[in-house]
Amino acid sequence: MSTGPMSTGRVAGKVAFITGAARGQGRSHALRLAAEGAAIIAVDLCGPLPSVEYPLATAEDLADTARAVEDLDRRVVAVQADVRDLASLERALSLGVAELGRLDIVSANAGILSSGSLAELGEPAWREMIDINLSGVWRTCKASIPYLIDGGRGGSIILTSSVAGLKSYPNMAHYVAAKHGVTGLARALAIELAPHRIRVNSVHPTQVDTDMIQNDVMYRLFRPDLANPGRADFAEASRATGLLPVDWVEAADVSSVLLFLASDDARYITGAALPVDAGALLTKLS
Ligand SMILES: NC(=O)c1ccc[n+]([C@@H]2O[C@H](COP(=O)([O-])OP(=O)(O)OC[C@H]3O[C@@H](n4cnc5c(N)ncnc54)[C@H](O)[C@@H]3O)[C@@H](O)[C@H]2O)c1
Repeated sequence: MSTGPMSTGRVAGKVAFITGAARGQGRSHALRLAAEGAAIIAVDLCGPLPSVEYPLATAEDLADTARAVEDLDRRVVAVQADVRDLASLERALSLGVAELGRLDIVSANAGILSSGSLAELGEPAWREMIDINLSGVWRTCKASIPYLIDGGRGGSIILTSSVAGLKSYPNMAHYVAAKHGVTGLARALAIELAPHRIRVNSVHPTQVDTDMIQNDVMYRLFRPDLANPGRADFAEASRATGLLPVDWVEAADVSSVLLFLASDDARYITGAALPVDAGALLTKLS
C-alpha cells in the first residue's frame, strides 16, 4: 500500500510508530521520517501526570503533529494512547496498520522527567517513572513486535534512552534507573529479534531543547546555587556538561540519528547505544 504520493527518501514507503509524538523529539522524529517518505502512526498521552511538574502535551499538540505530517504529503494516523496501558497501544497500532498497511520502524520515545533525592522521592513518583520511562518502552515493543515479525521484512526499533542511561546523575535516581533499563532492554531485544532481521538500538541524548528541560524544575535542578534561575542560567550549566561548546542539542539532531538507525544505511547496526551527547559521556560533570 502506498504511504503517500511520490514516496521518495531514505525511508520511502515505510510506516513508523512513534510514542510521545505530540511535541518535542517525538514530533521532530515524525516530521523527519515523513519528510524522508514514511507514513506515521503517532501516539501521545495528551494529558497531565501527578509526578510531573511541567505541562505535558495536549490533544491539540498531537493534532498539530498530524497536520504537519499531512502538510508533507504523508499519511498519518494519530491516536491518544498511554504507554502505561498496553491495550491502548495495541488499539493504536491495530488502527494504524489497518489504515497504512504495514509497520517497519518503531520509536519508543515517550517519557517524563521528575527530580528529587532518594530521600525526597516517594513511591508514587518512582512507580510513575518506571511505569512510563521503562515499562512504557517495553509495552511499546511488546505491542509492535508481532507486526514487525508478521511483516517478514525486518524492521528497526529505536529506544530513546538518555545520557542518563549510560552515566549516573544525582537527584533523579528513578530516571537514571529507568533509562539504564532501556539500554539493557535494547541490547536484550537485539539478540532476540536479529533472526527476524529486526534491529534494535538505543539513542542517548544529552539535554535537548524541548519543554521537558526548558522549565523551572530543570532550571532549579541545574542551578541550585541561584534563587530564581532562568533559561540563560540553565544554558550555562547545561553547556558545562558537554565537551562541544553548545548549550544543548536540538530535537532535529536526535531525529537525524533516529533516521539513520531507521534507514538501510544502518542495516547492519543492532544492539548499539548511540550517544547524541556533545561529548557529555567523557566529562566528569553531570
Ligand atoms: N529533553 C531532554 O533533554 C532529553 C534528554 C535525554 C532524553 N530525553 C528523552 O527523550 C524523550 C522525549 O522527550 P522530549 O525531550 O521530547 O520531551 P517532551 O516532554 O517534549 O515530550 C515527551 C512526550 O511524551 C509524552 N508522554 C509522557 N507520558 C506519556 C505516556 N504515559 N504515554 C504516552 N505519551 C506520554 C508527553 O505528553 C510528551 O508529548 C523522553 O523519553 C525523554 O526522557 C530527553
